[in-house]
Amino acid sequence: MTLRSILIHPDPRLKKVADPVTEFSEDLRRIADDMLDTMYAAPGIGLAGPQIGLMKRLIVLDCVKDRDAPPRPLAMVNPVVTWSSEERSVYEEGCLSIPEQFAEVTRPAEVRVRWQDVTGAEQEEQFSGLWATCVQHEIDHLNGKLFIDYLTPLKRQLITRKMEKLKRERARDGLKPEPKDEM
Ligand code: NI
Repeated sequence: MTLRSILIHPDPRLKKVADPVTEFSEDLRRIADDMLDTMYAAPGIGLAGPQIGLMKRLIVLDCVKDRDAPPRPLAMVNPVVTWSSEERSVYEEGCLSIPEQFAEVTRPAEVRVRWQDVTGAEQEEQFSGLWATCVQHEIDHLNGKLFIDYLTPLKRQLITRKMEKLKRERARDGLKPEPKDEM
């Protein structure tokens, strides 16, 4: 397994729209596995291609929180939200590219998502709860959107300044954060 390094905001790659995946190669499967390993190691519950500098429409997630329940690693290629509920839910989101920062974000409580698995087979499923929040957060990454883009400009600026400071500190002495529910 190869752990990939995770880009920290601000980074121009995190603001770009990722390209569709057209080749379902062995390479794609390997990258999806690396992304899952990287996500679990962080630890996090979701990770999107652009966060490792891969500008492709690939996300991974596993929102099983019960330690006794089996894990459910999902790799989604070219995911699209095909339906969202009127009902909204609020969750205190975090992001592996914005470590140690959390803020409430309001999103549709349930979404239906269509995607391809790593073999190219079409899948569709309806998600609720943390899964719904996380999959929307990850698809946002593919469109160059971060959870802080839902906040007021002032809050966003504050977090961005903290991240700039964190990047300087990490570059200096390699500090590691202790994240919770980051995606
Ligand atoms: Ni994220």
